[in-house]
Amino acid sequence: MSELNKIALKILSNGKGILAADESNGTMTKRLDSVNIPSTSENRLLFRETLFSSESMKDCIGGVILYDETINQVSSLKKPIPDMISETGAVPGIKVDTGAKVLANSPEEKITEGLDGLRERLKKYYELGARFTKWRGVFNITKKYPSKLSIHSNAHALARYSNLVQECRMVPIIEPEVLMDGDHSANDCLNKTSEVIKRCFEELIIHQVDLTGIILKPNMILAGNKSKNKISNEEVSSKTLECLKNSVPSEVPGIAFLSGGQSEIEATENLNLINKNNDTNFLITYSYGRALQQSALKFWSENIKNLTGTQNIFNHRAKMCTLAAQGKWSKELENR
Ligand code: G3H
Repeated sequence: MSELNKIALKILSNGKGILAADESNGTMTKRLDSVNIPSTSENRLLFRETLFSSESMKDCIGGVILYDETINQVSSLKKPIPDMISETGAVPGIKVDTGAKVLANSPEEKITEGLDGLRERLKKYYELGARFTKWRGVFNITKKYPSKLSIHSNAHALARYSNLVQECRMVPIIEPEVLMDGDHSANDCLNKTSEVIKRCFEELIIHQVDLTGIILKPNMILAGNKSKNKISNEEVSSKTLECLKNSVPSEVPGIAFLSGGQSEIEATENLNLINKNNDTNFLITYSYGRALQQSALKFWSENIKNLTGTQNIFNHRAKMCTLAAQGKWSKELENR
């Protein structure tokens, strides 16, 4: 087993999943604005540190994706944040793309940037304790999109990123997110997501990326959020598994889904059914941002001194997601 494969398995095994706490300062400001909390560096750290010192870190969270600001911060007990995370048994990770920018020649689409100077930044992050990384490519569905140009250029960037990350002995999370925005059908989502993921693997193979040392972070297969034809959770599960089977090579150790705007319960229930019906060899778990943090953030914003209460809410969510990653979640357990 390679060193990279071991890291990937440590993050994903036994129902553990990933806490995506890598919102950029811009995104985090939107999240904090929505609950009327000033987006200062201290507040961003306080909320995140509250989650990182929760009980569920030990049993549920296999990895935490950080943003550049946070990986360089120290906790209130003067411990570097990556050390604080490692001490819980979870692996510290870091978002390394520098964001999605307008794609030249297709201005309604995006290309993710961040390759310039990446090798040097990766070395610095490794020294700080990171052992895995994240890069997100983003695609929207309309009649015209995603275009071949956006699919090819983002897949190429994801492959170049992955090679640099593996060279630096870290596991790349490859996140091609096909957005749920729009009125497209679940079958459109299935077809487009499959096309995007297949193209990503073609590029990864051309670049000779070690597929046993990556984690794929895709979207689930859903109808668009403005579609009148929503599908059942069972159908989400079967279409999502169909997509993985038709587009992901079997060497890949695991899949960690993004929540992508689903509610906490929806993201948990869908993950649970995917695992119940999982007839693949992939470990299938979560790498959620909003679907792990939303309720905790809301409670914290209204009870800013009540860190234990905030942690209790986060612990429950993490526990439910970990049950779902083993196909053991139920409504009764959710509401107990
Ligand atoms: O890049 C997206 C995040 O890592 C996952 O966030 O679960 O809120 O979609 P989300």
